[in-house]
Amino acid sequence: MVSSDFSSPHRHFPIGVFDSGVGGLTVLRALRDRLPAESFVYLGDTARLPYGTKSPDSVRRYSLQASQFLVSRGIKCLVVACNTASAMALPLLRERLSPIPVIGVIEPGAAAGCGASRSGRIAVIATEGTVAGGAYQEAIARMRAGAQVQARACTLFVALAEEGWTEGEIAETVARRYLEDLFATPARAPDTLVLGCTHFPVLLGALRRVVGPEVTIVDSAATTAAAVAAELAELQLAASGIAPGRLTLMATDGAARFARVGSRFLGEPFAADDVELVDL
Ligand code: DGL
Repeated sequence: MVSSDFSSPHRHFPIGVFDSGVGGLTVLRALRDRLPAESFVYLGDTARLPYGTKSPDSVRRYSLQASQFLVSRGIKCLVVACNTASAMALPLLRERLSPIPVIGVIEPGAAAGCGASRSGRIAVIATEGTVAGGAYQEAIARMRAGAQVQARACTLFVALAEEGWTEGEIAETVARRYLEDLFATPARAPDTLVLGCTHFPVLLGALRRVVGPEVTIVDSAATTAAAVAAELAELQLAASGIAPGRLTLMATDGAARFARVGSRFLGEPFAADDVELVDL
């Protein structure tokens, strides 16, 4: 619990959002839509992307460094937008950043999947690290007794999303290769697909064509934004006033690429000059 000693002076501080790169901008977009009066400081650890194929120890170390950097800039709350970092580092970050609240994307993503599924058969697609760590599988099992979860690593989706090849033959062929067998037998197929990776929402069109119209596709962005709003309200940390908040964008490498690729993920254009390069 955050004490009022922390809440009162900190409510005008920005919310820190951390991801391994540009993908978390999909979560930032949902956060800004849900919380327009809040200011945000986003850090993409582009120098060390991808996290999804790294060992848990490396992901925990990188996540802690990035989070401590954001804390040094002054934040009132940390959103871990990266699924892999959320899956592997959340307990560590909560312990080390206390009393700053830390919110990850796995629980909100699992809640969205459980809420959407009628049959309890839920598929989760994510990075190798997220799938191997089992965080989604555990969260869904906790939230919904009897759920049948099938988790699958879809590593190439990250590269496709970064390259902007999100529609068309190549994206669909790759999606079919990863997912077709999961959805091949209608009687046993999942009725819900959870996008357990920051990059996957931009592949929605190709995924939809592969899984068909009956499957509900959910991601954690909107539910994470709702969880952050609830947490800020409960801790009396929400910004007051109606003036739109400020946005600071930071990356650890490649401002031009971050801007070019990131504009697609954020859903609005920004320039390399808008990105502050930082060294952790
Ligand atoms: N941000 C990562 C995630 O959501 C995807 C990219 C990466 O592997 O770093 O898991």
